[in-house]
Amino acid sequence: MSKKSNITTLKPLPRHVAVIMDGNGRWAQRRYMPRIMGHRQGAKTVKEIVTATRELNIPYLTLYAFSKENWSRPAEEVSGLMDLLYEYLQKELDELLGKRIRLRAIGEIEALPDRVYDLLMETMEKTSRNYEMQLILALSYGGRSEIIEAAKRFAKRCMKGEMYPDDLDEGSFRSFLYAGDVPDPDLIIRTSGEKRLSNFLLFQAAYSELYITPTLWPDFNKKEFMKALNDYRCRERRFGMTSEQILLRCTSSES
Ligand code: FPP
Repeated sequence: MSKKSNITTLKPLPRHVAVIMDGNGRWAQRRYMPRIMGHRQGAKTVKEIVTATRELNIPYLTLYAFSKENWSRPAEEVSGLMDLLYEYLQKELDELLGKRIRLRAIGEIEALPDRVYDLLMETMEKTSRNYEMQLILALSYGGRSEIIEAAKRFAKRCMKGEMYPDDLDEGSFRSFLYAGDVPDPDLIIRTSGEKRLSNFLLFQAAYSELYITPTLWPDFNKKEFMKALNDYRCRERRFGMTSEQILLRCTSSES
């Protein structure tokens, strides 16, 4: 295959990239540092990847910043992470506004400490009219809880007589999720080599492409991000169909 035809067969960039940012603790431990230093370095990577996503015109980036399960980590680590989040929101507001990035959150955000919750709400409100990109932070997030909460919200609507069980399908169910208007992630990146979803976007990840790198999150950077995106662009997404059907669909949409 010639170089030229190789380039023309590359798929478009993903519209939505989601990241399981893993390996901060190991990064710190390898340097005999407290775990929080790994998270601090990880926050720098967050900044670099948000900037790269915006530069590439990728409209949605979701970052798994704090899971529901993370509440059971040592109190010192949890409070250190909350401080980091607070600092990030404080420092990045101007950058988010300047780059027209809307900040959103998914998860049980009411569980966050009051000062973090208040600043998060304020940042979401101040950036709510930004349309170039959405940065979605998963905070106190769990995929199973999200699905259960969505089912409860639907059941309540049924009990009020506003909806009926037969109204439910994949499309209507989405509207009960934390951010039902956001398209499913095309690509999920996980750093630090673990090969699992860890309760992340369980409903939305049904057809996502997975990219796993051994690189620890604090060492992840724009170059590694581009590598993940290029890997994605070389893949064939079949959504349960055959290669022939996909080819037919592509050629008929081109003509
Ligand atoms: C997992 O690494 C990472 C986390 C639990 C927290 C992620 C947080 C950040 C990257 C920084 C703060 C976020 C923002 C948005 C400013 P781990 O601690 O489980 O690593 P390990 O598996 O090596 O122990």
